[in-house]
Amino acid sequence: MNSAPLLRMRDVGITTGGRGNPRALVRDVNLTVAAGETVGLVGESGSGKSMLVKSAMRLLPRHTEAHGHLDFEGRSVFGFSPRELAAYRSRDVALIHQDPRAHTNPLRTIGDFLIEGVVAGGLFSPREARRRACETMASIGVTDPEHRLTQYPHQLSGGLLQRMMIVAALLHSPKLVFADEPTTALDVTVQSEVMAILQEQIRERGLGLLFISHDLDLAAAVTDSLAVMYAGTVVERGATAEVHSRPLHPYTAGLLACRPSATAVTRLQPIPGRPISAYEAGPGCAFAARCRFATEECRTDRPHLRTVEDRLVACHRVERIGAELTRAVHS
Ligand SMILES: Nc1ncnc2c1ncn2[C@@H]1O[C@H](COP(=O)(O)OP(=O)(O)OP(=O)(O)O)[C@@H](O)[C@H]1O
Ligand SMILES: [Mg+2]
Repeated sequence: MNSAPLLRMRDVGITTGGRGNPRALVRDVNLTVAAGETVGLVGESGSGKSMLVKSAMRLLPRHTEAHGHLDFEGRSVFGFSPRELAAYRSRDVALIHQDPRAHTNPLRTIGDFLIEGVVAGGLFSPREARRRACETMASIGVTDPEHRLTQYPHQLSGGLLQRMMIVAALLHSPKLVFADEPTTALDVTVQSEVMAILQEQIRERGLGLLFISHDLDLAAAVTDSLAVMYAGTVVERGATAEVHSRPLHPYTAGLLACRPSATAVTRLQPIPGRPISAYEAGPGCAFAARCRFATEECRTDRPHLRTVEDRLVACHRVERIGAELTRAVHS
């Protein structure tokens, strides 16, 4: 039996701008997803979440480049030959995008969309692929599956189209699913329906899930562990229940303090300033300019992830500020 985690990232970085003028978009990311584990990757817009997922699919845009080690079941994804890469994408992993309309061809039917990939990948005959597509649709509560195969993307609501993306992701029975903000484009009620379906399918099938979101509460509701990203790097990592109830990094605490409460009318506390990209960060902690606990050391010396209590945190001041952070989030 293979005891390696499904996905292991070691010191993964992504740069843009070529050798002449390299700019870091993601740096020093260490992350694992085990079989059957759900991991949330959370951070503000621009923090590098999608880039990281694209690097794991080897789908980075032109003029961007990944380095470091990224293994799937102990094999280097960055080192895959074209044939290995095709097999990895068509059998081992699946990607669900934020915006299903941008990832479907308006001129092709849902049937074409669902079936072409698995048939081209040599997994199933067209007939078997259709049968499986209908079966999977039925299992997630899509009515009249045969008819859906003949429809075009514009004939489906956003929620239904995103369900088709889930069907597409599950059709080839992958081991690991990357879900990049799968419900962000949907309205709230549809969002929770689609999330429930995704969660149920992942659990029932015992799949690994890397769930990307800017919404810490949503990620906390569906994951076993959380990695919080800021300016292209992970600043806090630990079991979801712990990170969510007792954040140790000021950025995680800031994310929790600025969300609206469903039960109390309190003044929201936005994180001051704006998020920055990895290449805009100075020599110190990328969050220092927005952090009310920052000292001179934070501005000059970059903190690395280190073990603090039950998790990993990249903050020089964590031992001094822990109690105050917990109070700030729960006040
Ligand atoms: N094609 C590209 N070439 C160069 N830089 C890019 C490209 N696409 C995105 N970036 C930059 O990479 C950084 C990370 O972007 P990314 O899309 O991964 O963020 P994200 O965390 O997914 O944000 P969002 O929540 O908005 O989806 C940003 O600074 C962004 O401007
Ligand atoms: Mg993104």
